[in-house]
Amino acid sequence: MTQVVAVVGLGTMGAGIVEVCLAAGHDVLAFDGFPEARAKGLERVHKGFARRVEKGTLAQADADAAIARLRAVEAIAELASADIVIEAVAEIPEIKHDLFRELGSVMQPSAILATNTSAISVTGIAEASGQPERVVGLHFFNPAPVMKLVEVVRTRLVDPQVYASAIEFAEGLDKEAVPCPDTPGFLVNRILVPMLNDAVRTLAETGADPIDIDRALKAGAGWPMGPLALIDLIGVDVQMHASQAIADGLGDEHYAPHPLLAEMVEEGRLGRKTGAGFHTYEAR
Ligand code: 3HC
Repeated sequence: MTQVVAVVGLGTMGAGIVEVCLAAGHDVLAFDGFPEARAKGLERVHKGFARRVEKGTLAQADADAAIARLRAVEAIAELASADIVIEAVAEIPEIKHDLFRELGSVMQPSAILATNTSAISVTGIAEASGQPERVVGLHFFNPAPVMKLVEVVRTRLVDPQVYASAIEFAEGLDKEAVPCPDTPGFLVNRILVPMLNDAVRTLAETGADPIDIDRALKAGAGWPMGPLALIDLIGVDVQMHASQAIADGLGDEHYAPHPLLAEMVEEGRLGRKTGAGFHTYEAR
């Protein structure tokens, strides 16, 4: 069933989510508080559909029809009519809490309020919204148009009907919807993020070449891409925030980010999005 989906935050994940929702036939309202980020995000969505046409998986007319269902808006208030809003802004609890406080008052009472957070407490976000029974986590994976999984995060406060609708919505995007409890890192990141930290620790402690660490895990453990290249894809800053959130949430320093990540963030080496991380990339 076609729905009106609002996406807030048009970075890598937000733009990918917009593409996925348009491809599934929904109408999409897209918002980013930073005009430059909004322009870049919309360009990514166009590129995503151009890629599909180029690959021959989508006809040009269907790509045009999908893009025609996208409307960029300039204020949160313009999202009010959406059936579901998916937030993909920076992984900073205060920013998410403030946004959900606003969404809780702006969105129509039947709307589902979803966060794409990687590791921040969905319960905390739900409480900030003032409408905790309507809040779920819909955690997409990067690149969102390619990765099949959506973790559907359930808090103790959510209305079971809302949660069931969220699962149905994720499945309707042709994704594998996996129910997850609202525990730090949910399922994937609680396992993956420490593994990625271990790759950074191995790099720092052995002096091995990052290329060799990545080659080894690809050829020896069947990873589709090496762990350091994967951190570059998801963002060095995202890996750092996710590790810290899991460490804080579990009260276990074992999960804390390796110090090298903080150094890289300080130097602006955030991975693919800045052209340099553990590896270097062509400017985009
Ligand atoms: N957007 C859209 N499509 C993309 C894409 C992107 N950014 N990157 C690659 N693709 C598509 C390609 O077009 C290609 O499609 P096709 O098979 O239909 O032609 C397909 O993906 C494979 O791409 P490539 O042949 O260029 O390259 P690879 O075979 O190396 O695949 C990859 C790229 C899909 C990114 C693969 O390396 C992979 O699966 N890597 C692991 C990604 C992963 O683990 N993501 C999860 C990260 S954790 C996370 O997101 C959680 C967060 O909270 C931190």
